[in-house]
Amino acid sequence: MNKLCLLGLVVGLAFQPALAADVKSTTAQTKAAFISDLMKRMTVEEKIGQLRLISIGPEMTHEQIQDEMAAGRIGGTFNSVIRAENRPMQDAAVKRSRLKIPVFFAFDVIHGHRTAFPISLGLAASWDMAAIATSARVAAAEAASDSLDMTFGPMVDVSRDPRWGRTSEGFGEDPYLVSRIATVMVENLQGKDLAAKDKIMATMKHFAVYGAVEGGRDYNVVDMSMTRMYQDYLPPYRAAVDAGAGGVMIALNSINGVPATSNTWLMQDLLRKDWGFKGVTVSDHGAVLELIRHGVAKDGREAAKLAIKAGIDMSMNDKVYGKELPGLLKSGEVSQRDLDNAVREILGAKYDLGLFADPYRRIGQAADDPADTYAEERLSRAPAREVARKTLVLLKNQNQTLPLKKQGTIALVGPLADAPIDMLGSWSAAARSGQAVTLRAGLNNALGDKAQVLYAKGANVTDNPQILHFLANLGGDREEVEIDPRTPQQMIDEAVAAAGKADVIVAALGEARGMSHESASRTNLNIPEPQRALFDALKATGKPIVLVLMNGRPLTIAKELAGSDAVLETWFSGTEGGNAIADVLFGDYNPSGKLPVTFPRSVGQIPSYYNHLSVGRPVVPGEPTDYRSQYFDEENSPLFPFGFGLSYTDFSLSDLSLSSTTLKKGAKLQASIRVKNTGQRAGETVVQLYIRDVAASLARPVKELKNFRKLMLAPGEEQTVTFDIGENELKFFNAQLKAVAEPGEFKVQVGLDSQAVKEQSFELL
Ligand code: NOJ
Repeated sequence: MNKLCLLGLVVGLAFQPALAADVKSTTAQTKAAFISDLMKRMTVEEKIGQLRLISIGPEMTHEQIQDEMAAGRIGGTFNSVIRAENRPMQDAAVKRSRLKIPVFFAFDVIHGHRTAFPISLGLAASWDMAAIATSARVAAAEAASDSLDMTFGPMVDVSRDPRWGRTSEGFGEDPYLVSRIATVMVENLQGKDLAAKDKIMATMKHFAVYGAVEGGRDYNVVDMSMTRMYQDYLPPYRAAVDAGAGGVMIALNSINGVPATSNTWLMQDLLRKDWGFKGVTVSDHGAVLELIRHGVAKDGREAAKLAIKAGIDMSMNDKVYGKELPGLLKSGEVSQRDLDNAVREILGAKYDLGLFADPYRRIGQAADDPADTYAEERLSRAPAREVARKTLVLLKNQNQTLPLKKQGTIALVGPLADAPIDMLGSWSAAARSGQAVTLRAGLNNALGDKAQVLYAKGANVTDNPQILHFLANLGGDREEVEIDPRTPQQMIDEAVAAAGKADVIVAALGEARGMSHESASRTNLNIPEPQRALFDALKATGKPIVLVLMNGRPLTIAKELAGSDAVLETWFSGTEGGNAIADVLFGDYNPSGKLPVTFPRSVGQIPSYYNHLSVGRPVVPGEPTDYRSQYFDEENSPLFPFGFGLSYTDFSLSDLSLSSTTLKKGAKLQASIRVKNTGQRAGETVVQLYIRDVAASLARPVKELKNFRKLMLAPGEEQTVTFDIGENELKFFNAQLKAVAEPGEFKVQVGLDSQAVKEQSFELL
C-alpha cells in the first residue's frame, strides 16, 4: 500500500492530531490522490449518498437522519445551527459509517448570523468594501462557531425589477458594483484558508440570471439575449468564481427555455470550461424534481438523469437522487463517470473545509458549547452598528430638518418604529428579534432624559387580508406581523395627538420584512394603504415630518417624498439598526450611503435601471418630444437615480480632466477630478466613474459604472480623485460574445450619483 492510500485509510479510521497536520499541509495533488483513493473504496450506494443534501426538518427525525448518515446515505445537511444538534450527526458519519466520511453543515448565512447586519441591499448601499468585508467576516465567524461549514450565499443576482421580493437579498442593479461586492463577500467568508475554524465555504447563487425573472414574479422564466446576459447579469457570478467560491447554487428558473437545473451549457460549458470553476454545484431546494413541472422531464427518474448529466453535484432536500440514481446507473443511462464527477467535487469541498483532517473543527468539544446559543456575549453589536450606519441613505433634507436636536419632544409613529422582527430583515433565521434594537429603543438610547419621545403605532403595516395571509404563512411558528386590534381611526387619532404635542414627527413606514423575501413579489410598490392614510393625517398637522423608510426594495414614494421634510432610507438595518438610525437622525454619524438601485416613480417605469441601452428616439432636453421613447403620462427619469445619496455636508466637484484625449490599446489614461467638502461637517461621499461607448458594433448603454471611490473629507478639505482607464474599462461582449474594446470615442463621466456628472471624452485608437 502506498503512502497516500495509507493516509486515506487511516484518516478514514481515526482523526489523530498528527495526521490532521499532515493532511493540512498536503498540496492540490495530494488532495486529488486522497480523494481518488477514497473513491476507490466507496460503493455506488455510498457515492450516491454523498450527493444528497438533506434539510433538517419535520420530514425525518434526528435519529432517522443519524441512521442514514451511519449508512453513508447523506453528504451534508442544512438548517441545523446548533453545535449540540450537529455533533451527533457528525458522530454518526465519522464513528458509525463504514468509510467514516464526514458530513458538512450548511445554512443560509446571508447578512450576518446570530448578529443580523443590514440586508444585502443595504450593505450594497454603503459602497464601502471594508464595511461589507467586516459583515462577512463576522458572519463567517459566528456561523462557524455554531458548527456551520457552508453558507448558501452570497446571492449575487443582478435585479432591475423591484417587484421581485428577493431584490432585498441581492446587491442591486449594477453588474460592476455587485461584482465588487461578490468578490469581497467570498474572500471574507472563506478567508485565505477555508479550513480555518472561523471560516465557511461560500456558495454563490443563484446561477444564473434568477434576478431577471419575468415580471418580477419569483421562480418565473428568464428569456434574455445572450449579449445582455453576458454584459449585465453574468459578471457577478464570474467575480465570485474568480474569488474562489467553493460552491455554486443553481437557480430555480429556466433560461431561454432550458431550466438552469438541467442546463448543460450553463454548468459545464460556461461555469466549468470557460470560467474554470473547480468546486461543488448544488441544486436549489427540490429543484431536481421541479424539472417535471418545468416540462422537461416526464418523471423523477428522467429529472435525476437530466440534472446529474447537466452537472448538479448535490441535490438539495433530496428525494430523487437517492431514489433514482441506483437504477439509472444500473441501466447505464447515468455513467459511473457522471457519478464520480459529482462525488469528487463534494469530497473536494469537505477536504478544503478541513473536515477530513478534523470533522469537529467547527463543532468543537461539547464542554465548550455555549450554555446559551443566543447569549448576548455571542453577538457582535459594535461592528453591526458601525456597518449599519454606513448603509443608510439620506434621500431628502429640506431646510436642514436633519440632524435633529436632542431636545424637546419627538413624536415617533409608524408600525415599523417598534417592530423588532422587521429590523432583522428576511433570511436572518439565526438572529433573535428580541435582541434587535428598534428605532424606538434607538431613539431612547440616544436621548436618555434629554428629550421626550411620544410613541404611537399609528397604523398596522397592512390591513390587506391577502398580504396578511401571505405573511402569516411565511412566518412558520413565528409571528411575522403584530396586528393591533384597534380601528385605523383610533390608531391615527393617537398618532395625531402625539404629533400635536411634538416639535417633529419621525414616521417609520414601509414594508414588513416578509414582504421583501423569497416568493414575495408585488405588483404595487406603494407603502401599504393604512400607512399612507396615517401619513396624510400626520401631514395635516403641519408638523415637520422625517420619514424613516424600512423596506427591502425600492418603493414608489412620490407622495410621501413630497410631503416629508426629510427622508432617510434605512432598508432593514439589522440587530443594531435602531441605534444606527438614531446615530444618523441626531447627527452622531453623517450619512454616506448611496442607492445601489434606481427608485422608479411608478411601477409602470419598471424595469428601472440607469445603464439602459441607447435608443434611436431618446428624449433629449431641448428637442421636440413627440414620437420619442417615453410614457405620455410620466417622465422617463426615476424618482431617485442609481448612486444617489445626500450628506449633512455639501460636496462640490471640479471639472473633469483627462490625462490624454487619445488612448492606445494596452495603455492607460487618467481621469481626475477634485472633490471639495464645502460644508461645515466632516463627511464621506462616493465618487463614481461612468463610461459611455459612443459608437460601437452593438448599441451600448448610455453609461456604465466602471469604478468608484469612497472618501472622507474634513470641512473645507479638497482631494483629487484619479481613476485609471484602460481597455478593461472599455470592453463589452460583442455579437460573438467576445470581450472587446472597439476603437472610437468614449465619454467619461464622474459624479456623486449616476445623473449629475462632469463629462469629457477621448478616443481609443
Ligand atoms: C431556497 C432558496 O431559493 C435558496 O436561496 C436557499 O438557499 C434555499 N432555499 C435553502 O434555504
